[in-house]
Amino acid sequence: MATAVTGKMVSDRIGRIELSATLAVVNEAAQLRAKGADLVDFGAGEPHFTTPRHIKDAAIAAIENNFTKYTAVAGIKELRQAIANRHREDLQSDYSATECIASTGGKLALFNAIQTLVDHGDEVIIPVPYWVSFKDIVQYAGGKCVYVDTDEANGFQLDPAMVQRAMTSRTRAIILNSPNNPSGAVTSPEVAREIVELAHRRGIYVISDECYVYLNYAGNPFSLGSITKAKEHLVIIGSLSKTYAMTGWRMGYALATEPIVNAFQKLQSQSTSSSNSITQKAALAAVTGPQDCVQQMKTDYTKLRDRVLQLLAEIPGITCNKPDGAFYVYPNVSKFFGRGGVRSAADIAKRLLHEAHVVTVPGEGFGTREHIRISYAVTMSDLERGLGRMKTFFAKL
Ligand SMILES: Cc1ncc(COP(=O)(O)O)c(C=O)c1O
Repeated sequence: MATAVTGKMVSDRIGRIELSATLAVVNEAAQLRAKGADLVDFGAGEPHFTTPRHIKDAAIAAIENNFTKYTAVAGIKELRQAIANRHREDLQSDYSATECIASTGGKLALFNAIQTLVDHGDEVIIPVPYWVSFKDIVQYAGGKCVYVDTDEANGFQLDPAMVQRAMTSRTRAIILNSPNNPSGAVTSPEVAREIVELAHRRGIYVISDECYVYLNYAGNPFSLGSITKAKEHLVIIGSLSKTYAMTGWRMGYALATEPIVNAFQKLQSQSTSSSNSITQKAALAAVTGPQDCVQQMKTDYTKLRDRVLQLLAEIPGITCNKPDGAFYVYPNVSKFFGRGGVRSAADIAKRLLHEAHVVTVPGEGFGTREHIRISYAVTMSDLERGLGRMKTFFAKL
């Protein structure tokens, strides 16, 4: 039987986006590993810690108690309330249970937010460097990304005047991400307030990706949700993935006014429905249980950050800002361009992978051309082993 001839295989929407750059690296590394290579992996953006015991126990109890059915789309009431409470207590926000939706990861919460708020042709301001998925999710919605550079010499800090200059009558939203993936930069509360107040006055949404909010080494965790007078234009995206070492469980959330959360719910009801019921019980234990695990991990990340900076400083030619948050460093490797046939950060990451067996992510996926991202959420011995290999690699380049 003849196959029907169709003009195209996939939708225009899918044609507008790419496979996540970080996932692409993970795939390439997996292929090498399958061939027996002993890799040091600085690529994956996830904690090396295991999920705390009390959280795992709550999930086991959920299974034993047959809490294994569909739940309400936005999540069980207790969880929505508990997330709102924890946010209020730790981050001085003012959200109720009905202003919270639990989603299958912060990524879905963000996807819901962008698809709900951004129309075809709308402009979305994105500071550079940015987390890989912002660009593609905006493009999937038909929006136009408007990039605003940050100043590396100033620790990748965002300048509110530059954000203001990027605003037009078509600007629909600004995506902020502090602590930042990939630079680790933390936006000061003053700068954040200035941008939020500006956006609020002009009726522009600020979507604040705060997945790393507790991993702030310079000061107290700060959420834009504390700027309650701008609540109408704020969407806070949070995640349990990094805070409680729960990446594989898939639990994130959005906080916003009730009509906006209801719109997210409408979209989610047509995709995943609720998040996983067992994960919801685990998440409830995470946000209501003891929080010392969060502090303990933060203390360990601080030591790892200091060590990676020390070791990078021993590699001639590499410069690196001291990041105040998340678990990434974003060294500038441009001094090596032109040496040994290397022309870009992508070339360096590829050669580091194949020749030194160290996994990093090239800056191109984050919107800059001169950097590679190193995740230091690894054991101290892996960190030292990987940096040792990098030192040897760069010395020979
Ligand atoms: C900035 C940022 N936002 C959101 C996410 C999504 O996290 P998850 O979907 O695991 O909650 C990540 C994960 O790496 C991230 O780095």
